[in-house]
Amino acid sequence: DATDKGEFRHYMMKEIYEQPKVISACLEGRISESKVLTSCFGADSAFLKEIENVHIVACGTSYHAGLVAKYWIEDLAGLPCSVEVASEYRYRKVAVPKKTLFLTLSQSGETADTLAALRMAKELGYLTTLAICNVPSSTLVRESALTLLTNAGPEIGVASTKAFTTQLTALLITSVAIAVENGLSAEKEKELVQAMRSLPAYVNAALLEDAHIKKIADRFANKNNALFLGRGTMFPIALEGSLKLKEISYIHAEAYPAGELKHGPLALVDEDMPIIALVPHNDMLDKLKSNLQEVAARGGELYVFADKDTDLHSEENIIFTEVPKVDSILEPIVHTIPLQLLSYHVAVVKGTDVDQPRNLAKSVTVE
Ligand code: G6P
Repeated sequence: DATDKGEFRHYMMKEIYEQPKVISACLEGRISESKVLTSCFGADSAFLKEIENVHIVACGTSYHAGLVAKYWIEDLAGLPCSVEVASEYRYRKVAVPKKTLFLTLSQSGETADTLAALRMAKELGYLTTLAICNVPSSTLVRESALTLLTNAGPEIGVASTKAFTTQLTALLITSVAIAVENGLSAEKEKELVQAMRSLPAYVNAALLEDAHIKKIADRFANKNNALFLGRGTMFPIALEGSLKLKEISYIHAEAYPAGELKHGPLALVDEDMPIIALVPHNDMLDKLKSNLQEVAARGGELYVFADKDTDLHSEENIIFTEVPKVDSILEPIVHTIPLQLLSYHVAVVKGTDVDQPRNLAKSVTVE
């Protein structure tokens, strides 16, 4: 029952722990052993063949999911994809290339800016409109031509957790479906689908670091600022991690693509500025390691989230948290889990109202 916290002290923690189950629910009926089942977009999936461009529009955490999808769509399908916050999109003149898919992301399906963006988009000659949404009866679902539900169940904590990881799951399904129509081989599709099938188990494995993360959260409680770093798909996850920390622990946090460190934020690094580094295990690993050295050389305290084969470990000024080693396509989803846990435990240490942070609403239905 969604309104029952069960064994948990807060809805947010309950929802964090529901993720293996709801990610399974999001995948259910949408993939076979080796393929994405395009019937999940409705009876007529012919639009997938026609897409030449994608515009993604959303707010808050949903916007961060869209930023990850840009990497996936451009990488797997080779199609241009742009991502924008709805409150900007709706107030400017947008140039729409031919055969562009308009894709909205929303937990609630009631966010005023996202709805206004959809209504505007419908006048701009898009190929079609697709909503990835968690609430089947929402206005966004009703007003979009196509829907892919995230199936996360009701989310009550104001800080979004399971809605985000199921949005990413739904976006991965969508990205692969578009890629298949744009030259992705059957072999690669099968590899990606098999990775997706293992996702709930890896999210479960990531949750096993909870007790360790709770311990390191104590070191954060007296900090006023934090800097999150990532590269590639880990950059939007850094943005999401910093948003979670701001929302519920009221610690000022920023996220930067690690390569931009030297263009400004390095000036902020000292022993009072914890740096949270999300380390991918791909060809960016060595680049990220050298970014970490830049920080360590300036006395910064580093919180490193990486798999153990990256050869990173705890040492002076480095606090290591292990993240399960996964296919790189899954890394942004699996790396989200420890950041949710970190912001949760920091908020509990600080004694804030975790489920109802000050000044924020679950669903922003007015401008
Ligand atoms: C509010 C919530 C956020 C959410 C954002 C977008 O700001 O507090 O958690 O990400 O709205 O909401 P939506 O329902 O459109 O995903």
